[in-house]
Amino acid sequence: MSAPNKSYDPVEVEALKPEEIERMRDEALAAFAAAADLDQLQEAKTAHTGGTSPLALANREIGALPPQAKADAGKRVGMARGAVNKALAARQSELEAERDARVLVEEAVDVSLPHDRVPAGARHPLTTLSERIEDIFVAMGYAVAEGPEVEAEWFNFDALNIGPDHPARGEQDTFFVQGGKAADAEDSGVVLRTHTSPVQIRSLIDREPPVYVICPGRVYRTDELDATHTPVFHQVELLAVDEGLTMADLKGTLDHMVQELFGGEGMKTRLRPNFFPFTEPSAEMDMVCYVCRGESVGNPDRPCRTCSSEGWIELGGCGMVNPKVLTACGVDPEKYSGFAFGFGIERMLMFRHNVEDMRDMVEGDVRFTRPFGMEI
Ligand code: PHE
Repeated sequence: MSAPNKSYDPVEVEALKPEEIERMRDEALAAFAAAADLDQLQEAKTAHTGGTSPLALANREIGALPPQAKADAGKRVGMARGAVNKALAARQSELEAERDARVLVEEAVDVSLPHDRVPAGARHPLTTLSERIEDIFVAMGYAVAEGPEVEAEWFNFDALNIGPDHPARGEQDTFFVQGGKAADAEDSGVVLRTHTSPVQIRSLIDREPPVYVICPGRVYRTDELDATHTPVFHQVELLAVDEGLTMADLKGTLDHMVQELFGGEGMKTRLRPNFFPFTEPSAEMDMVCYVCRGESVGNPDRPCRTCSSEGWIELGGCGMVNPKVLTACGVDPEKYSGFAFGFGIERMLMFRHNVEDMRDMVEGDVRFTRPFGMEI
């Protein structure tokens, strides 16, 4: 505050003239009235009652006036400030009431809505797809067979004609759990099963032919988790052993499966020669691309992203059960023959539902599973 100044003439102090003070007051009142919401009112409040507002500055001038002028000016400024504060408080409660009324409407909770909508969990799409495949075969009389994931090497390799020195034994990226003493069911080493084929061996040993089993399950290989690999994945393998089964039965069964899974006309499979120790002959199986149904082949006007315009999608492996496998399981290869196939469920989920990254399947984020629906 400035010190009193004898030569100071209040009439000369522009800011303290009555009409100036009235103008300041009226401007403040007009600004408050014009504020459409609480934010705007806050701005007007700072401008007209804050430390640097005209009225506050005028108030500061009073201290420098001679006593009589000081009383007059003090009264005028005090009244103006009182009126401004009163108007501010009134507008404040008016706008608050408006806001409260609006919030009541906008944020109303409809208490009549059903209260029991607790989100229900759902099965993973890998499970539902695997079960859908099982259903196709159960409808044809197959049994669903399961076996241990921590498996004896004999079941995982030896019985499947993958002997200790067989190159395929080293190519399976196996997780070894425990070393073994001998190449038989009891004393062989222990591994995390690299495929569900050992379940087929167990089924053949446990049952009398005819044997028709479908073996879904989790399998393990020492792959890094990335967009197209996962160290833990799922397979479905099928085994049929009966009298007189031929490759035609295998082909017909595969065609039926893809028709049931992908629907409609034109779905079929093709076989390409391949090698597996446990089947002979062996083949790689492809199915017609379920999107373009082969129409993109040689047709640049209708390219297909799903099969890269090749018309076929690779499914998995198959073949006629190697007689050595039948013998290892105590089944007479002279009397019985069989066919088998196997494929990965993750891969099928990827192309059946356009899943681009395998990691989505293992991360457990509901934003991934929700679009598959709440199938339980
Ligand atoms: N077991 C094979 C694999 O995991 C798949 C397969 C099953 C191939 C049956 C032929 C017959 O790669």
